[in-house]
Amino acid sequence: MENVHHFHEFDAIVVGGGGAGLMAALYASRSVRTAVISKLYPTRSHTGTAQGGIGAALGNLEADKPEWHAFDTIKGGDYLSDQNAADVLAKEAVEAVVELEWMGLPFDRNADGTIAQRRFGGHTNNETKKPVRRACHSADRTGHMILQTLYQNCIKEGVKFFDEFQVIDLVFNGDKPCGVEAVSLDTGQVHVFHAKAITFASGGWGRVWSVTSNAHSLTGDGPAIVWRHGLPLQDMEFFQFHPTGLYPLGVLITEGVRGEGGVLINDRGERFMERYAPTIKDLASRDVVSRAIYLEVQEKRGVNGREYVHLDVRPSTVNRYLAEAGEDRRIDEQYILEKLPDILDFCHTYAGVDPVKEAIPVAPTAHYAMGGIPTNVNAEVLRDGKGTTVPGLYAAGEVACVSVHGANRLGTNSLTDLIVFGRKAGIQMAEYCQQADFIPLPHDPGRSAVVALEQLRKSSGKTKPHTIRRRMQQEMMAKVGVFREEKMMQEALDLVRELKEQFQNDLAIDDQGYRFNTDLMEAWELGCLLDVAEVTAASALHRKESRGAHSRDDHPDRDDEKYLAHTVAYPRNGTVEIKYDRPVDLSLGYEPKERVY
Ligand code: FUM
Repeated sequence: MENVHHFHEFDAIVVGGGGAGLMAALYASRSVRTAVISKLYPTRSHTGTAQGGIGAALGNLEADKPEWHAFDTIKGGDYLSDQNAADVLAKEAVEAVVELEWMGLPFDRNADGTIAQRRFGGHTNNETKKPVRRACHSADRTGHMILQTLYQNCIKEGVKFFDEFQVIDLVFNGDKPCGVEAVSLDTGQVHVFHAKAITFASGGWGRVWSVTSNAHSLTGDGPAIVWRHGLPLQDMEFFQFHPTGLYPLGVLITEGVRGEGGVLINDRGERFMERYAPTIKDLASRDVVSRAIYLEVQEKRGVNGREYVHLDVRPSTVNRYLAEAGEDRRIDEQYILEKLPDILDFCHTYAGVDPVKEAIPVAPTAHYAMGGIPTNVNAEVLRDGKGTTVPGLYAAGEVACVSVHGANRLGTNSLTDLIVFGRKAGIQMAEYCQQADFIPLPHDPGRSAVVALEQLRKSSGKTKPHTIRRRMQQEMMAKVGVFREEKMMQEALDLVRELKEQFQNDLAIDDQGYRFNTDLMEAWELGCLLDVAEVTAASALHRKESRGAHSRDDHPDRDDEKYLAHTVAYPRNGTVEIKYDRPVDLSLGYEPKERVY
């Protein structure tokens, strides 16, 4: 095939070089030939932006146990979390953190040399109901340190990296996956990778929304690719808005700021979370805090009448509230400088604010996908609600829906998820590759990527990709955001469908070249974003209840009778069919209750 110049063969291929991908590659590479294909240089992956910590019940500073971590995860997920998955996450978290430490990760330390831990939203002592220190951290650069550590270990194990390669398609022989097609960004040539096992670990899709903590690269490539092959996506309506994005850009300001004692303050100077979550206040789960900020703004208590509130971590404020809570601890400027150095930097750079002297302007920002490619707890991709697996295909990290985070993820559990379930994917791939033969590539491999890219390259319409992207992002932000209702979601779905048509029929691509054609690649990514936005809006429209991050003004209550089940969206005849055919695993015996923080 013209422009397919390169064929490669590996036992295991990992798509994505973030934490989950590297962990999968590390484990697979110990037994089989493994390669990582990443659209970025791997240490630029989005795991590197995770700040505040990785959750594990080490109990280094106070009593804690995995059982409490599992329960908090389930409660935080508004009882949509699969309880078997939460159990695995919480139990294996402890060993995972120790493993990272042994790999060389430079965690902060307590005076006795143990790993330092801080408070984070929704993580509690289940007996006292008070916040517990469970987030193991490396200042406010925990994700960055994880990424560097895993990358170094992958290099040591001989993992082969294909950096700045965009995966365009999966290759199937019949219904069996047998490789991927990717374009090398520096030449524009398509490469075919023949493999026995493939793991998608390509991250999230925050770029569906206009205000997001996510990098430009987070465009939902993984879910869009599997969807186009007829595979389902699960729980797509559950997209988390992190309460504290730096206003107005949406850059992440870690929950670790509140974990260190920072508080949210409205225009009247009130610590308003006392009203919404009387027990754990600013450390309630993210869905609760994001809604509270929106309600304050709606009630005209946003700072200076604007759409933001203040996050105050000045030592004088923090010490006042610590004293009020009867805590012995006090902080000073030096403590903030040591614990939150990147946050100080971001606030200086992007808002001209010095957090040790001034409060930080914050508002909710699109942050994390709880839904995604459905998998079981062994990271095996599912093709239906009955749990039928697709042999040789795996997914881990944010792109996957295990489902451990249910309707709302707790902070720190994303890093835990990618280590625990990334490792599962690596182990499973290695086992599978050792007993499976290569499935032959079909005739003319690489063709689908070449055709897709050439069609886009030849687009000669009038609408630039960024025009379509902007309209989609603003619509999704306004109508499928923190608060939702039927008419608005229907309008968003209709507009996304109209934009898909415009994308097909009237796209303008300026750059006709092959080398680093970012115009073309952005257009290809936009196609993925539109597919993912459509499934998200359709899934949100169908679920007529409020649960976790899916909050509907027209159906304000949770409805366990009808909706204690995963939303499974299937591609059918060019549209989206929604079923609730995957029950929630309740095997730990936690029956749904009203969530009170
Ligand atoms: O707030 C944060 O540091 C973000 C962490 C996370 O999303 O888990």
